[in-house]
Amino acid sequence: MLDQYIQDKIAELKIEDTVYKLPIIIGSEGERAIDIRALRSQSGHITFDSGFMNTGSCSSDITFLDGEKGILSYRGYPVEDLAKHCTFAEVAYLLVHGSLPTIEELKHFSELLGRFALIHEDMIHFFDGFPAGAPPMAILSSMVNSLMTFYPEMTENPLENIDENAARLISKVRTIAAFSFKKSIGHPLVYPRHDLSYCANFLNMMFDSPVKPYEINNIVVKALNKVLILHADHEQNCSTSTVRLVGSARVNLYASISAGISALWGPLHGGANQAVVEMLEEIYNGGGDYKKFIARAKDSDDPFRLVGFGHRVYKTYDPRSQVIKGICDEMLDALKVNDPLLDIAKEIEEVALKDGYFIDRHLYPNVDFYSGIIYRAIGIPTNMFTVMFALGRLPGWISHWKEMWVDPNWRIGRPRQVYVGPKRRPFVPIHERKGDEE
Ligand code: ACO
Repeated sequence: MLDQYIQDKIAELKIEDTVYKLPIIIGSEGERAIDIRALRSQSGHITFDSGFMNTGSCSSDITFLDGEKGILSYRGYPVEDLAKHCTFAEVAYLLVHGSLPTIEELKHFSELLGRFALIHEDMIHFFDGFPAGAPPMAILSSMVNSLMTFYPEMTENPLENIDENAARLISKVRTIAAFSFKKSIGHPLVYPRHDLSYCANFLNMMFDSPVKPYEINNIVVKALNKVLILHADHEQNCSTSTVRLVGSARVNLYASISAGISALWGPLHGGANQAVVEMLEEIYNGGGDYKKFIARAKDSDDPFRLVGFGHRVYKTYDPRSQVIKGICDEMLDALKVNDPLLDIAKEIEEVALKDGYFIDRHLYPNVDFYSGIIYRAIGIPTNMFTVMFALGRLPGWISHWKEMWVDPNWRIGRPRQVYVGPKRRPFVPIHERKGDEE
């Protein structure tokens, strides 16, 4: 796939007196890269790029992102159009299979999602082993890793039935997520229903109760579909790169996804949606003085950051945050919910976007700034927000794992380093050691 994008043009790198000629790669949307794969063997040098700000780790035909222009598309389709016209199941199919499903294909995929929705009854006992108050992301990551023990055939032949296994995972993660919530509040589990769509089924498992049946609200179902679509993939972010890196050691899909869930848990990544609501609550409970928090975010002596602002790749509006803000307004309006946190969020956005500190650093609201407010209105507790992100991101992780597995340029992921520790020195037997001064 990559070879056709390698150009006749070359870049020249001069190290002391030697000039190295490095091929140039131009991707299908014009993204330019210098191919340094032969650099170390030819010159003895590696490149140094902590945080991988300038490093392309793979070629991919799944998602295109232009952080300067604020563009995001899955398999060529703008994310805004997908959020407007598709269900989450349709987009999951698109990501995993590479094309939008026909009516028949979607029907079959939805049947698989229904068929695989149960988890093995033996696995349900696992939930009892977690202590009260265990973080749901820890439960989710452990349970997904455990799935391999119930479906071991994947390790034998990872790509055989990958499409079924993808549907199985997408379906079961939804059930595990809802069950972990029910367990955490000590309520009986609500089993999945074959007659419900992906998102309606999830909401029903989360909120139905023997004493108060849940009424499925189409406005909420629609909003949840859109939010999950907006989270479905985001090229080589921290968790997706983790899935690829772990999978590059030829680790099974479940273990690779479990690692991705752990990466997503971090407050600088998927954990930000929870942190945003916690920050907004703190502002609200403290009397609503959001300007004090903006001032803290600007203070270089204060480590505080305005959560939900800034992004490693977007240096303009995150296109997802625009759509999500619209969904937030529409849903709260339709449900007649008046959330003071939404008002604070809007005020922060308005002030920050006019502030030199944020303008100079290209800090705009990211996808997490408004998603938490939507989850709150749906009734999802704050500690489940990152689990919601994982539900959305799952089809993206699976498609990257699959793509990595069949990539002809695949190699085990193994970055190098610049060693700055002590130079090689003689070993000192224990009775001759003098302690730290040595
Ligand atoms: N509030 C205040 N200042 C900020 C913020 C923020 N949210 N984000 C970045 N900055 C400042 C930094 O202090 C730095 O300032 P300086 O140049 O004066 O030192 C400058 O902007 C550049 O910041 P970096 O940390 O270099 O940017 P990076 O691309 O590495 O970080 C990140 C991106 C981690 C998302 C960062 O913006 C951040 O911490 N945001 C808050 C957490 C958050 O919302 N995370 C969710 C990301 S979206 C996602 O994962 C789905």
